[in-house]
Formats: sequence, structure tokens, C-alpha cells
Amino acid sequence: MDRVTIFDTTLRDGEQAAGGTLNIQEKLEIARQLERLGVDVIEAGFPISSPGDFESVRLIAREVRTPIICALAHANADAIDRAWEAVREAEHRRIHVFLSSSDIHLVYQLKKSRQEILEMGRSMVARAKKYLDDVEFSPMDASRTEPEYIYQILRAVIDAGATTVNIPDTVGYATPDEFGDLIEGIFKNVPNIERAIVSVHCHNDLGLAVANSLESLKRGTRQVECTINGIGERAGNASLEEIVMAIKTRQDFFNLATNIDTTQIYKTSRLVSELTGFTVQPNKAIVGANAFSHESGIHQDGVIKMPITYEIMDPKTVGIPASSLVLGKLSGRHAFQERLAELGYSLSEENFNRAFSTFKELADKKKEITDKDIESLVAEEQRTVSEIYHLDRIQVTCGDRGIPTAAVRLIAPDGQVLADAALGTGPVDAVYKAINRLVGVSNELTEFSVKSVTEGIDAIGEVLIRIESEGVTYTGRGADTDIIVASGKAYLNALNRLLAAKKTR
Ligand code: KIV
Ligand code: ZN
Repeated sequence: MDRVTIFDTTLRDGEQAAGGTLNIQEKLEIARQLERLGVDVIEAGFPISSPGDFESVRLIAREVRTPIICALAHANADAIDRAWEAVREAEHRRIHVFLSSSDIHLVYQLKKSRQEILEMGRSMVARAKKYLDDVEFSPMDASRTEPEYIYQILRAVIDAGATTVNIPDTVGYATPDEFGDLIEGIFKNVPNIERAIVSVHCHNDLGLAVANSLESLKRGTRQVECTINGIGERAGNASLEEIVMAIKTRQDFFNLATNIDTTQIYKTSRLVSELTGFTVQPNKAIVGANAFSHESGIHQDGVIKMPITYEIMDPKTVGIPASSLVLGKLSGRHAFQERLAELGYSLSEENFNRAFSTFKELADKKKEITDKDIESLVAEEQRTVSEIYHLDRIQVTCGDRGIPTAAVRLIAPDGQVLADAALGTGPVDAVYKAINRLVGVSNELTEFSVKSVTEGIDAIGEVLIRIESEGVTYTGRGADTDIIVASGKAYLNALNRLLAAKKTR
């Protein structure tokens, strides 16, 4: 059975999704989890695009040793040199060179002839090849490029040393049959194709990214580029979990395998959602909240009698916790620790102690603590580890007659205690204004949403906000049983990310 190389681009194309900016520590955390998941290649970033991207690729290259660490570069000498600098310390490394190939891009964007593009592709692959063996080339917008021209480019870049040639459906335009035919044409018409792995990179503008990727596998590709939760530019990329589980569940059809440890899927999905602020839709295949929940009586009856009646996958295979044991006020350290382990968390002693005391505080306010509460609580703890300003206290007064007022106390990075108060149009506005008076960074609030983590009046409220500063969007999250406190935490979380990003620029 052939193996499919899983090339994860969550940290590059995924991070290109509007509002999905991650800081360097968050990228490292995701990269470590991708390593545990067993992806073969991590596309860690586009080093020439910003100093922050360069640093994060370099850090991941140093720290994450099992997968191939790949850096993206456009077909430009400086971009390739920078990509090399970023990945040179990796145990396994790759440079991925891309260059538009469709007439639409050549005429309107690059204003270059096909011959010029072919030369650029060839010479830039040769440049990357001087640095390392593993070079990937992508003719961007391949699905809207005349096939004959793609054959020529691929032949030239393989001769120049490309070891993987990747066929992107950059704008998500292709249909499965058409895309499959393009792949088949490549195998038939590129004379040196057996010297390279053929890969695909599909976008989801028409909701066909996974279907196109799977069709390509049937036609002979052996690398798929994808992202966790399908995040990415515009409507996103092909979703890793859907491709992997389709290959596994329908092994009878595909006769293929991957190196993915599928039991890590759920945890990876949660982490990416948490850190990017992109909520997973409930009906999302594999990792959505409803993916394994049966509502109709007939289905429930069937699943109780025999799960395979309505379940084609065992939720345990993707790492969805088997039991949803409820903890409470009387649960001790041991029970809490065991539950954390079952949910896949291993916290340092210091972080565990903090999480345990937060758990105890929560158990005083909330009768039953479910897995979702615990996930939210751990995420909240993780957010506080990297914070610059810490929210110490919030007090608000509001009501239909009162003037919404907030008093806020923060701990500054140097340990100084800062306090101020402000009036607002409502309690959240007042809290934000009071924080602004203390932190003093101008920004615009572009999104604010509240959801409850679990059911019930005592549920934890989770606030997601996005703020914009100098054209960059920062996401912030906060969780608490009091939604005003959660809002304050979320706002400060976004401000902390903004401040951290400013430091690395
Ligand atoms: O969508 C695309 O074409 C890309 C390339 C850089 C591979 O992301
Ligand atoms: Zn892309």
C-alpha cells in the first residue's frame, strides 16, 4: 500500500486567513502538536514576508525535529536566500518555490511572457537546489493554466532539481473530474515526472477542495497539502482531518495510508481553533461538535444497538474523549489530573497547580465541570502564560438607569499595579475604555462575540474579539462564568498579542 505524504500548511496558508494571525510562541505550539499528529511536512511560513515570519520559521526549524520543515519563497533570489536562512538549522528541510503560470496572472499581474516565467522557475529552483536537496515547485493557478504549458514548466523545474511538483488549484475553480484529468495528463506528458513526487494544493472556494485532493490521489499524486480545520486564504484549504479520515475509513477504495496518528486529530483541531480564534462549525466533518452526535430517535436506537448502524468512524479514532465524566467541587487533584491526561493535556507542575486552583474556584461557582469546561479552563491558563499585562480585577456598575462604569486593575510587565476607571455606553465598553486608558495602544474593535461553553445558567462564557491596528488584525479570547470578566480578559488577550507583535517587528 502506498503512503501519502501529508504536507500541513496551517502555519502558512492557514495563517493567511483573514484575522488568523498567530504569534511566534503560538506557531511553535501548533508545530509541536503537528509533530505529535505525525504530519510529514510542516510549511512553517513565508520568511521573506516579514521579520516575524522569518523568526517563527527559524524557531520551528530549530525546535521541531521529526517532520520536514518547509519555507515558502516566491521565485525571487532574495526570497529563496531568506527561506534558506530560516530552515538551514532544521533536521529535515525543504524550500517551496512558487510562481504563477496562468495567462490570467501572467498578463494582468506579472506582465511577463510564458518563456520568461519558465526561465524564472528553472533558475530559481536551481538556486534553491544549491542550498539543499529537497526543493518543491508550484505553478500557481495551475488549474487555470493551459496544460501543455504546465507540462513544459514541470519538465524544466524537475530538470533543475525539483523533487516535488505541486499542482495548486489556487482559486478553488476546478471540479474533481477536470482536476483529475489535469493530474493524469501530467503523468502522461511530463517525460521526467517519475523523478518527482506529484502533490496537490486545493482551495475550497466551491467547497471542492477535499474532493479534488482525493480525486488526485486516485490519479497518482502522493502528497496532499492541507490545513487543520480547513483554514486558509478566503474559503480555506483542503481540510487535513477530512482527507486523512477519508483515506483511513475508505481504505478499501483508496488502498493508501498516511503516517498520521488519528487519535491526535481532535486535540489539534481544538488547539488551532483556540489559537486562531476560528470557531469550528458544529456540522464540520470529523471535528465539529455534532459530527458524532445522533439526534433522531431512530439513529439513537441504532447506535445504542450497534454503533456501525449510523457511525462510519469510531469517535475514539480521532481522539474524541470516550467518556464525558463530570467533575465537581469534591473532585481532588488526582481526579483532575487523570481527566486532563485523558483529554490529552500534560501540564508542567506549575501550570497544573494554577489550573487546579482555577478548577477549584470554578467548582465553587458551577456544580458540574464537564470536559468542555476543562478545555476552556486549560486554554485560559495557557493564555495567561504568555501575557504582558495581566488582568487583576474588574468591577462594573450598570443597569437601565445607571451610567455604565468600570474600574479596572492591571499588573504591568514590570510588576507595577495600574488602576483606572471609565464610563461607557455599556459595561463592556466601559471596561474596554478603562483598559485603554491604562495600556494606551490605539486600535479598532472589529468583532465581538460571546458564546457559552456548556449548557446551563452557570455555564462558562467565552468571548472572542478581534481588534485592528495598522492594518493587522489580532484575535483575543477570554473565558469566565462572568461574561464581563471574560470580555475584559479577551480584550487584554488581544492587546497583549498586539504588543508582542509590535516587539518582533
Ligand atoms: O494557493 C496557492 O497557489 C498557494 C501556493 C503558494 C502554493 O498557496
Ligand atoms: Zn494556497
